[in-house]
Amino acid sequence: MRTPALTTSSDGFLLHDEPFRIISGAMHYFRIHPDLWADRLRKARLMGLNTVETYVPWNLHQPDPEGPLVLDGLLDLPRYLDLAKAEGLHVLLRPGPYICAEWDGGGLPAWLTSDPDIRLRTSDPRFTDAFDRYLDILLPPLLPHMAAAGGSIIAVQVENEYGAYGDDTAYLKHVEQALRSRGVEELLFTCDQAASPKHLAAGSLPGVLSTATFGGKVEESLRKLREHQPEGPLMCSEFWIGWFDHWGGPHHARSAEDAAADLDRLLSAGASVNIYMFHGGTNFAFTNGANHHHTYAPTITSYDYDAALTESGDPGPKYHAFREVIARHAAVPEEAAPAPSPKLPLTTVELDRRAPLLPHAETLGEPVVKAENPLTMDELGQHSGYALYRTTLPEAGDGLLHFSGGVGDRAQVFVDGAPVGVLERERREESLPVRVPHAGATLDVLVENMGGVNYGPRIGSPKGLLGPVTFNGTALHGWDCHRLPLAGDLDAVPFAPADTTPITVPAFHHGTFEVETPADTFLALPGWTKGQAWINGFHLGRYWSRGPQQTLYVPGPVLRPGTNELVLLELHATTAPRARLTDTPDLGPVNP
Ligand code: GLA
Repeated sequence: MRTPALTTSSDGFLLHDEPFRIISGAMHYFRIHPDLWADRLRKARLMGLNTVETYVPWNLHQPDPEGPLVLDGLLDLPRYLDLAKAEGLHVLLRPGPYICAEWDGGGLPAWLTSDPDIRLRTSDPRFTDAFDRYLDILLPPLLPHMAAAGGSIIAVQVENEYGAYGDDTAYLKHVEQALRSRGVEELLFTCDQAASPKHLAAGSLPGVLSTATFGGKVEESLRKLREHQPEGPLMCSEFWIGWFDHWGGPHHARSAEDAAADLDRLLSAGASVNIYMFHGGTNFAFTNGANHHHTYAPTITSYDYDAALTESGDPGPKYHAFREVIARHAAVPEEAAPAPSPKLPLTTVELDRRAPLLPHAETLGEPVVKAENPLTMDELGQHSGYALYRTTLPEAGDGLLHFSGGVGDRAQVFVDGAPVGVLERERREESLPVRVPHAGATLDVLVENMGGVNYGPRIGSPKGLLGPVTFNGTALHGWDCHRLPLAGDLDAVPFAPADTTPITVPAFHHGTFEVETPADTFLALPGWTKGQAWINGFHLGRYWSRGPQQTLYVPGPVLRPGTNELVLLELHATTAPRARLTDTPDLGPVNP
């Protein structure tokens, strides 16, 4: 093996044998529209960063265990690495297998996590073999981008905060060897939470650099890392300068002064740093994860993170404060700091065509699966989106509908097409009183996967209806399970002109608007309740009046000059069939 470009001395890094300090920022290519990658990378360099860091999401790159690697559009990692190199930036690569990152399933593919027998993130060969097969196809296109081959990648992370999860050192060793045996010669490192010496110990490997994750208590955290690893560079591999939000929770923010003061402490201590996040981006489509610490808590669509660059790529207060701090410790480009990008003029969109979902589930979904008892989404071979379960209620009368095993994650219940209630996993709801008007009434249950748990032991917990359903204690049999992944285009939606009667059932709504010059904008949906939004077929993600987030980021490249199309899937109702495109994001009230 050749000597890697990046090596370590007793107290720091060397790059090609010269002392080097990593001043890095996290930014996930898969959370940024690919037409904006170059812009974000340039802004990273202008802030004074010499390196950018990214995870690699296994679940998106290998959605099918037998299928090819997906490496296009938002997933064209080689192109992103080329752009980083063109900007003169080094790259820290974190290929998992597990990435956490508030990402669906922590980046582990659902086809793997849905097998309850596989012991995830252990040396269980069913897990390691799957990862090995993935590396077999992932690494060949990446090896030319390693520093050894003249590329930008100077270091590669082994697993992610493994010490917070397990202590199977043989497994960590396997991940290390899997990378090495496939040609990765660069410096390898692990990362673990500085707050816990136990985590640092369990997540480390002899011969692999330990780094720490923390957001404050800088001196204490660095001391703990030093106690754990007496020699070598001190590196904060995730310096948390903001935080993410859950639906129904507060919007997290951290003051620029406070974060900049801690960055200064880190750099003054001679440490290397990866700012998490330099630019957070967006959980487009169905990609957000969830936490489940006592209760299930899905992450919102925005991954703004109160980062240095806002979700729309504009320099926020932290950008300028960090640039000043970095300039005290390293050379910062002399070019002026970037200005905010132009925004689209305020625009109103009338949604004047619509199509109810339930009557068209057959046309919009994939072929119906018939089953005695409801199948989970995983059993239906579907890993995101919605599933609609339909059966008949044999008896009339008042009674209790009981979902044994609960719902994953939110179920809307309809009798003869009329909404009768909602059950939420986060509220541990499993039963609903209903009135059945006549024997043979149709029961519909529309279930939404709100995002796969990405941290802790509940990764892979199932979605859809999770067990038999009873009415007054009698099991309901004979289910039609409609898969509604809503992943392709929505051309099959049979839109018709909307009349003025408001509707209170799930429906697609369609409107058009004119654009002169495409630019970033934010979709505001006052009066709407909960659903999904697409512009020109690009799936912006989930909206929910529960907040905190009230607008969805629309990247300029999604728009085109002339007529543009907005489609909403509204699951409940709206006060007016109208949306607004505004120039200011609204991520909700900040926590006190
Ligand atoms: C940990 C993980 C990251 C991310 C942050 C919180 O440090 O390693 O992937 O989840 O927490 O944002």
